[in-house]
Amino acid sequence: MNGAAPVIEARDLWRIYRQGAITVPALRGVSLTIRAGEMVAIMGPSGCGKTTLLNCLAGLDEPDAGEVWIEGVPLRALSDDQRTLHRARRMGFVFQTHNLLPVLSALENVELPMLLAGMSARKARQRAREALAAVQLADRLDHRPAQLSGGQQQRVAIARAIATAPAIVWADEPTGNLDSESAATVLALFQRLNRERGQTLVIVTHAREVSARCDRVIRMSDGQILA
Ligand SMILES: Nc1ncnc2c1ncn2[C@@H]1O[C@H](COP(=O)(O)OP(=O)(O)O)[C@@H](O)[C@H]1O
Ligand SMILES: [Mg+2]
Repeated sequence: MNGAAPVIEARDLWRIYRQGAITVPALRGVSLTIRAGEMVAIMGPSGCGKTTLLNCLAGLDEPDAGEVWIEGVPLRALSDDQRTLHRARRMGFVFQTHNLLPVLSALENVELPMLLAGMSARKARQRAREALAAVQLADRLDHRPAQLSGGQQQRVAIARAIATAPAIVWADEPTGNLDSESAATVLALFQRLNRERGQTLVIVTHAREVSARCDRVIRMSDGQILA
């Protein structure tokens, strides 16, 4: 593991939110290295900057200072369009709220980002079917989100995140809204993806059951990483 190439690197990240006269320093000099194939948990109290860090690492937000490299590519050197493309090709996202579109079926929800990224309908359908089978929802393709349990909805969101076989999967409190049984299913799934596909997983979580299964825990407090 330690010999694997760094897939995510951050050096001295600062992110300061400004609203009128109030400034909130959400990240205060964060540096880290995550290697290919690692499954890492980011933990810390509410408001300590976990989501801000994830967003800056993934290029969804821009730090005020510092640098992020993804697979050796400095995010700052990319245009907005290049960053978006890089994300679409190399990253998957799972959030606490699944963000599924209520009028679309499970299959259509998984297909949509691939279609938007310009993939052919046939290929997108095939990948969506495979991804839903991987999360054990092959028998729920035509169900809409409201016809699925919370755990199943989150598995559809995971299928959507992994359908393009991304190098990195980011998850922000992915089990936060789930009962413990659904959470365990989702967690086992993440672990399988990590082991069988070698995907790098970065999971923000409060749950010790989640962090206990990770290779490493990064602890944050007040915008900084604790040694
Ligand atoms: N868009 C924003 N504008 C202003 N302040 C924000 C914004 N997003 C987060 N914050 C503040 O930044 C700090 C870190 O937030 P966040 O990264 O969401 O923490 P966590 O995910 O660990 O709960 C908090 O004090 C929060 O209130
Ligand atoms: Mg958060």
